[in-house]
Amino acid sequence: MQTSAEKEVLVYGNFINGQWTEGKDYLPVFNKYTGEEIARIAKATREEVADAVTSAKETFSKKKLSPYERYEILMAAADIFKQRKEELAMTLVQEVGKVLKDARAEIDRGIQTFIASAEEAKRIAGEGIPLGQPGNEGKMAFTVRVPVGVIGAITPFNFPFNLTAHKVGPAIAAGNSVVLKPAELTPIIACKMAEILTDAGLPGGHLNIVNGLGHETGQFLLEDDRIDMFTFTGSPGVGRHIKSTTGIRKVTLELGNNSPTIVHKDAPDIGKAAELCVTRGVGNAGQACISVQRVYVHREVYDLFVQNAVQVAESLKVGNPEDPGTDVGPMISEKEAKRAEEWIQEAVGQGATVVSGGIREGSILHPTILVNVKPEMKVICQEVFAPVISIIPFDDIEEAYRQANDTRFGLQVGLFTSNLQFAMRATQALNFGGVIINDVSTYRADVMPYGGVKDSGIGKEGPRYAVQEMTDERIVVINL
Ligand code: SIN
Repeated sequence: MQTSAEKEVLVYGNFINGQWTEGKDYLPVFNKYTGEEIARIAKATREEVADAVTSAKETFSKKKLSPYERYEILMAAADIFKQRKEELAMTLVQEVGKVLKDARAEIDRGIQTFIASAEEAKRIAGEGIPLGQPGNEGKMAFTVRVPVGVIGAITPFNFPFNLTAHKVGPAIAAGNSVVLKPAELTPIIACKMAEILTDAGLPGGHLNIVNGLGHETGQFLLEDDRIDMFTFTGSPGVGRHIKSTTGIRKVTLELGNNSPTIVHKDAPDIGKAAELCVTRGVGNAGQACISVQRVYVHREVYDLFVQNAVQVAESLKVGNPEDPGTDVGPMISEKEAKRAEEWIQEAVGQGATVVSGGIREGSILHPTILVNVKPEMKVICQEVFAPVISIIPFDDIEEAYRQANDTRFGLQVGLFTSNLQFAMRATQALNFGGVIINDVSTYRADVMPYGGVKDSGIGKEGPRYAVQEMTDERIVVINL
């Protein structure tokens, strides 16, 4: 990394074999609230991507680290992240537009993701396989788990520290080497992560970074068939493209969701449920795959819920993400905020009512609550990825399960109820990767398996589960 003195912007090239290399062309990175240029990143060419893959490939075959070395490096990195927490959080405030308290929370989560990954490095084990059927006498068998090799990681803009930690931490823990392509809108934190891992003792070549645009640099990465596995978080469209380009290579895809949360009339506390739905629907400006988007509320408590939700939405402070009191900051771009505003206006044109928000100031969209929505409106049937929540009444819990399932997505769903039978039935009836009882769809502990069904993706994250994805199971049979 270098700092360009006249402009005081950070400049990052590509990180190949432990060295920053100069790029041929650069892209600007902007502060998402002030609009000022804060960094420039290289646009890696096909040759530079190939160099990064060569570095990863050679490192994988010639510079293996023992599980304990991997553990120690990841733990040392976690310590440095802790020491530099405020600076890293401020990087997220600037490059994402994330409000300070959420930025600090993301750094804390990422640190825990690294620690959990470090712990997994020491626990990678196969299992004994009993060969009890006739004809296998005199044989003994067990499995070992081996790293897949070179992992191509493509990360999103919305949680660029923790979601990168979810790919880099387990990949290193499992003994793989990585070529990372960070989101071009928010690449600085990943570049800092590489510097910190190097300071923590990670030798060159284990983590390489190629900066640039998804459809150029990302595409060069996809077309390099020396990469053994891809792990991607982002849109379903790009996920489908990755799946169709990478053939029979392994992929983990964490894609979208138009996340539902159901509030039954027997919810333990309607006010608390409303507060959680709103704050976890508009947190990070609604830009999380599991942000609450569709809230199905039993008709008997519907008015009370809407009243509470509006009160919470209107109490939130909107504005400068650097201000420690701000709850909702800008979206990633004005273009995205305008797109979400258009979806709101289109819904209103089709009969929806805005009961809170609906106002856009540049890239800031105020927390917005809609009622009188219909299933075919974009704000319902597509992923809104903005601070927009719709509240829909239901009369019967089975109808709520049906409406929640009426989507091409299936990442996570929330259900508030005091009825054990409804809760247990929900675990069967709701077709999602995660069913969260008495909390919202947005709940995520970083150690839990995280991943969806249908268009929400393939495979699981969470360090233990990602290590499984990033290792192959090898059977060993011994003829005694
Ligand atoms: C995502 O957007 O999928 C990640 C959300 C989170 O980790 O909280």
